[in-house]
Amino acid sequence: CGIVGYIGTQAATEILLAGLEKLEYRGYDSAGLATIWEGEVNCVRAKGKLHNLRSKVENLETPAPIGIGHTRWATHGKPEEYNAHPHMNTAMRVAVVQNGIVENYRELREELKSQGYEFLSDTDTEVIPHLIAQFLKEEKALGGESNFDSPFFEAVRKTVNQLTGAFALAVVCADYPDELIVVRQQAPLVIGFGQGEFFCASDTPAILSHTRAVLPLDNGEIARLTPLGVEVYDFNARRLKKHPRMLNMNPMMVEKQGFKHFMLKEIYEQPGVVRDCLEAYFNSDWIANDSNVAPINLGLPPEIYNDVEQIQIVACGTSWHAALIGKYLLEHLAQIPTQVHYASEFRYAPSPLTPNTLIIGVTQSGETADTLAALEMEKERRKEQQPKFQARLLGITNRPESSLGRMLPNIINTLAGIEIGVAATKTFVAQVMAFYALALDLAYLRKTVSSAKLQEIINGLRQIPGEIEGLLETQEKYIEELVHEFNETKDFIFLGRGINFPIALEGALKLKEISYIHAEGYPAGEMKHGPIALLDEKVPVVAIAMPGTVYEKVISNAQEAKARDSRLIGVTPIRDGEAGDIFNDLIPVPAVDELLSPILAVIPLQLLAYHIAARRGLDVDQPRNLAKSVTVE
Ligand code: G6P
Repeated sequence: CGIVGYIGTQAATEILLAGLEKLEYRGYDSAGLATIWEGEVNCVRAKGKLHNLRSKVENLETPAPIGIGHTRWATHGKPEEYNAHPHMNTAMRVAVVQNGIVENYRELREELKSQGYEFLSDTDTEVIPHLIAQFLKEEKALGGESNFDSPFFEAVRKTVNQLTGAFALAVVCADYPDELIVVRQQAPLVIGFGQGEFFCASDTPAILSHTRAVLPLDNGEIARLTPLGVEVYDFNARRLKKHPRMLNMNPMMVEKQGFKHFMLKEIYEQPGVVRDCLEAYFNSDWIANDSNVAPINLGLPPEIYNDVEQIQIVACGTSWHAALIGKYLLEHLAQIPTQVHYASEFRYAPSPLTPNTLIIGVTQSGETADTLAALEMEKERRKEQQPKFQARLLGITNRPESSLGRMLPNIINTLAGIEIGVAATKTFVAQVMAFYALALDLAYLRKTVSSAKLQEIINGLRQIPGEIEGLLETQEKYIEELVHEFNETKDFIFLGRGINFPIALEGALKLKEISYIHAEGYPAGEMKHGPIALLDEKVPVVAIAMPGTVYEKVISNAQEAKARDSRLIGVTPIRDGEAGDIFNDLIPVPAVDELLSPILAVIPLQLLAYHIAARRGLDVDQPRNLAKSVTVE
């Protein structure tokens, strides 16, 4: 979900709507806003995408200089207008937007119901305005004897002390038109500083066009925004000293710049992303056999690396696929046994503790609740078992200012620039680049690859940006044409082996995310143990066959699919000759070292998914039911 808030001198409504537009990638099944004008709360909500809300508020706009807005990704309750935020207590005229989950909402709801509060939605959020109203009544009854000069702030503070779960809030009240209260408890919230105006949002793109001076709140913090300034407190009302920082982003980064969709723009940004990663991670002064300069520079302390005996990686979605490639690289190059876990599984079935273990969390947003919780758990478990099972934690993220970035002192920043399309593309490629750098760094330190081999791989990596450019230039039009063949297709199978098995998974995930076509990624050798039963002339099979150890194997697995009448699409360097002939359609990719091939093989699969979805007229950047960062468990 996305939260935005404004307090200042300008009319809030347009600022909130524009902010929500930039946050729509975080959830978009309903939206709403509440502003305060002439002693009243004006709350407007609409089911569906943001333009529905926009048309609803069109004739109702006031110059209200304070307000909050929300775009929702349903957790509790269907995506209907009555479940959309803001939720209100109309008697005390309090409006609340929430991102996250209030875990103890059932008890609170029953309690409030027994006291006569009426509930109009199925959400967990609605308990919050009622609780605030209840405390506000008490505060007002105290008649200024409260230990804090704002009864409204006190009421919100007392309320958050009653809530369990992970949430971020923004709250306004008609009786306090000069106060916007925001809270962070394990769901992201940043405050933006303007000139005599202040903003809040669950992510920076919402406020980037107004200010680059931001203050991300930490867990357990509550802030009071007034036209005069921002005060930050902990939940016990102790004032905290906090300073804003400048964001290294500009508003152009969140515009489409002439591309039809953000996803296509982001696919085209990949050569630049790989170049930036190469420049940042690899030392151009390094010469093989010259021990004075290290080939890789990730800025990580030696304690992270010393005597690492094994590596555990936690991640979700596309980041999990990048982690699988990481495992392959870490095992193959650095000879370190590596396991990759779905963060959501690891939380409830963690591996037994082992000493000298490096734990890596991979999350492009740095906000995925399951990944953060898995890392937090590992930190705690290991704290209790010091020093034997000392925690060594490393984060790989595209948002160093995120919750992950603040939780872990050691981060590899993936340098992809902000990604807006819900389906990850350039952040995936950047994560894979981070794993090349990490695996090669470890391999160099442990001397598990020769200098000559290291040099060869680094040289190969340096060719990748140009090769991606070539692919985009030569293949995009072809793929755009090819997708006409799949107008009626309902199922797709993607096959890959070895280091390209995760690419088969990623190709399938991209396709299902944005085109809603059922797709499965399989290790090619496993196809005969199940998915082969699905094959017929209606089910196309995409085979990723890159030269190397498993090339012949993938080709024979593809033959097995062909024998079941499947249309075969080859992502392979072969242009003609025996192997090339078996494919109905061929998407040629450059013949590179097998180890480097995933980063090229993924490009046509991104384009394939993109063009299939775009041709079907689907909302590529904001596919149904998904959200870019999932900040709930
Ligand atoms: C969501 C997105 C996916 C993404 C996953 C993990 O499900 O829709 O595209 O891969 O979250 O996100 P993260 O920010 O942790 O990489």
